[in-house]
Amino acid sequence: METTLNNVAIEKVKNSKIHDVDFDNLSFGSVYTDHMLVCDYKDGKWMAPKIVPYQPITLDPSAKIFHYGQSIFEGMKAYKDEDGKVWLFRPLENFKRFNKSAERLAIPELPESHFMDGLLALINLESDWVPQNPGSSLYIRPFMFASGKGFHASPANEYKFIIACAPSGSYFSGKVKVLIEETYSRAANGGVGYAKAGGNYAGQFYPTKLAAEKGYQQVIWTDDNTHEFIEEAGAMNVFVRINDTLMTAPTSDRILDGITRKSILDIANDMGIKTEVRKISVHELVEAANNGTLKEMFGAGTAAVVSPISGFGYHGKDYELPEVTNSYADQLKKRITDIQYNRAEDKFGWRYPVE
Ligand code: PLP
Ligand code: COI
Repeated sequence: METTLNNVAIEKVKNSKIHDVDFDNLSFGSVYTDHMLVCDYKDGKWMAPKIVPYQPITLDPSAKIFHYGQSIFEGMKAYKDEDGKVWLFRPLENFKRFNKSAERLAIPELPESHFMDGLLALINLESDWVPQNPGSSLYIRPFMFASGKGFHASPANEYKFIIACAPSGSYFSGKVKVLIEETYSRAANGGVGYAKAGGNYAGQFYPTKLAAEKGYQQVIWTDDNTHEFIEEAGAMNVFVRINDTLMTAPTSDRILDGITRKSILDIANDMGIKTEVRKISVHELVEAANNGTLKEMFGAGTAAVVSPISGFGYHGKDYELPEVTNSYADQLKKRITDIQYNRAEDKFGWRYPVE
């Protein structure tokens, strides 16, 4: 059946899969909703986006995504409040970052209306799929890649922009134990670290696998030049609390400008927590762990929300973090999720209604 929503054409599924889904036991990103948004770039312009049943994509074997990794993505969530109303969180920030990533990967910029109208039409259509269970949400994955053909190592002439959604529970099941990386690098100056390029993640899998074999769930990346300063984790920015000061590394060419990161900084400042955005050396971290002033570490990201770190490994030694009362991680997680799920006033104007 063909309809339209927000001027976006919709081809609806005949039979929904929603009744097969166990909403009480959702893992992260492994079941997908009935529909997806698809938009093609050809002949030098983006075509009108449309919503179609969720389905495989057919591509020519020479499509440049397969050979040269011209691919970017975003990660967002839709939240359902107690009254069943659905909200997004700072979606325009994701849109802006998407185009920043696109520019760096020589992918044609997407018009704002294609992203926002398409996103709102899709989430509206899939609103029954937004879970209401505590800690669950609809994870939204916009992505864009080179579908155009050719073995020539140059930008493609055709692209696809797709949004797929997955009702999801938490990304990590408990506290996260991390390894501070001393050999491999995630990003370098002048590189693509600040973009959400697919290859940034592929490049992390091997060092992360080595870390997992030693019992760590995530790698904390250090600067590629000296490996002396902590930067971010595989899928989140990193915060450190020494005494009562909350710190995080400044963004750069090498670090993703996380939307959760900047929201946490704003909330912490608003709560009167002292914050510092500055380089944090591994030496300082080890010293603080040894003298008891290292109170907390946590990761922050859309998928991970606020994920406490239980300890870190460095130079063959493990450093455990203490259990603290009134943890900043707990307080900040409550504040940010209260805004996201419409349980508290949103003085920053971050909540965005889906209607
Ligand atoms: N850093 C990396 C490498 C990420 O993949 C993510 C996830 O998106 C983040 C940080 C956190 O960014 P955001 O809070 O915008 O989701
Ligand atoms: C997100 O937090 O949305 C991300 O993109 C992280 C992802 C690698 C799971």
